[in-house]
Amino acid sequence: MSDRERWGTRIGLVLAMAGNAVGLGNFLRFPVQAAQNGGGTFMIPYFISFLILGIPLMWIEWGIGRYGGSFGHGSVPGMFDRLTDQKKKWAKYLGVMGVVMPLVVFIYYTFIVSWMLAMSFFSLTGDYFGLRDIDEMRGYLGSFQNIFDSSYSGPLVTLFFFAITFIFLGWVLRRGLSGGIEKLALIGMPILFVFAFVLMWRVLTLPTMAASPADGLNFIWNPDWSSLGNAKVWLAAAGQMFFTLSVGMGSIHCYASYVKRDEDIALTGLSTAATNEFAEVVLGGTIAIPAAVVFFGVTGATAIANGGAFDLGIVAMAVVFQGLPGPEILGKLVAFLWFFLLFIAGITSSVALASPTIAFLQDEMQFTRKKAAAMVTAIALALGLFIIIFFRNGALDEWDYWAGTFGLVVFAAIEIVLFAYVFGIDRGWDELHRGADIKIPAFYKPVMKYVTPLFLFTLLGWWGATEALPTLLMQKVDDPSQIPYLWLSRGVMVALLVIGTILIKRSWARKAGEEA
Ligand code: TRP
Repeated sequence: MSDRERWGTRIGLVLAMAGNAVGLGNFLRFPVQAAQNGGGTFMIPYFISFLILGIPLMWIEWGIGRYGGSFGHGSVPGMFDRLTDQKKKWAKYLGVMGVVMPLVVFIYYTFIVSWMLAMSFFSLTGDYFGLRDIDEMRGYLGSFQNIFDSSYSGPLVTLFFFAITFIFLGWVLRRGLSGGIEKLALIGMPILFVFAFVLMWRVLTLPTMAASPADGLNFIWNPDWSSLGNAKVWLAAAGQMFFTLSVGMGSIHCYASYVKRDEDIALTGLSTAATNEFAEVVLGGTIAIPAAVVFFGVTGATAIANGGAFDLGIVAMAVVFQGLPGPEILGKLVAFLWFFLLFIAGITSSVALASPTIAFLQDEMQFTRKKAAAMVTAIALALGLFIIIFFRNGALDEWDYWAGTFGLVVFAAIEIVLFAYVFGIDRGWDELHRGADIKIPAFYKPVMKYVTPLFLFTLLGWWGATEALPTLLMQKVDDPSQIPYLWLSRGVMVALLVIGTILIKRSWARKAGEEA
């Protein structure tokens, strides 16, 4: 289809894909996961997951995406449909996950991104300067995450930054692929890298307090081989790999669908993965963890990381910036750099999360880009209010668990079977090499066919039995009063899946009608 949107330039594509993958996961989630799982202990399962899970899935998703795009499909239902021979009708329905999961993650993820915008602003104004204790700072963040808690800020502050963030995103998305998303990446990504280098330098030149910066680096870089037998660390490492590379969701596919049929994906896919890992282990690993170790020591930093997802990257860092040597204004500036870096990292991922749903509306339902962008922004604003209202009842975590963690493994298991067995690994391998600038090492062919699927199904079984099933049955809820709200949160996701399935059915029926 020649009227599909296309990326403007290769560098634009590379930066947009990097913007997709590099996100809050790299700078907030990674340090927490590493610290919770013993630092260096985490790194070995993490690198193995990169090699046999992350890289092959990245290539496969680029391959499926570009292939589907050549038939005019920018979202997974149409792509899965094309991977099967056209007599099989079921594959497109499996693709509904690839439209609904990114939409769900888009909504809560962007809410989190809006906190980063607020924190950037309040760093410059020095609003939280003076709250030098971890518990106080936790209270500060809490009052802004939860509109029913106004110990520090009222509900309007939360809603204001939430609305601004979504309106900005709606505007970018409306401008289209190369005029909006690609531009945002071309401007945002260089700024992100510059900010990250400045912050890294600031952290590594800190004086010794509770510990030295070198102790911090040691903590994550000293590998501990004993972790190879620890299932919990493996699950954490694999889960992080999915999240940080944005694989298992439908979003890489969508961006890849705008690549020309014979343009390289083998090298570009690999560079996306490599850039993300650089941003994660080098940049993400050298800011929050060493800074927290310097201020609180290894034990202190680990305890903070165990406190919650945002305690290390937001709460502890906000305390750290107030204690930096030198004049306070410098501390405010460094704090701004950090939170604005997080905002940029997040916003370039948010546009990627919104894209599969927009593409679905455009390609399968004949919406214009502008109408599709407006529609997705409106849905996100409405469901965003749901997440805001029920935040204190655990709604965000529930969505994150199913659509942002466990669902990715399920999705990846489905797509790899479709790619390696239904489409066929030989055809798949040729497809990945069409127009390729490099040759993918031959051993990745058996890896894609046997090793990665085996790893995925092992994860699925293990994780499913030890965690997902008990979670599904509400056996892991600490606070029973949350249970009705958790069911409500699940209900919303199920409703979206049902609506998605109906829309897929209808649009294929309509297309069949037009052809006949
Ligand atoms: N990779 C993103 C991060 O590190 C998060 C993410 C997961 C994502 N899946 C995605 C972003 C899909 C865009 C599209 O923060």
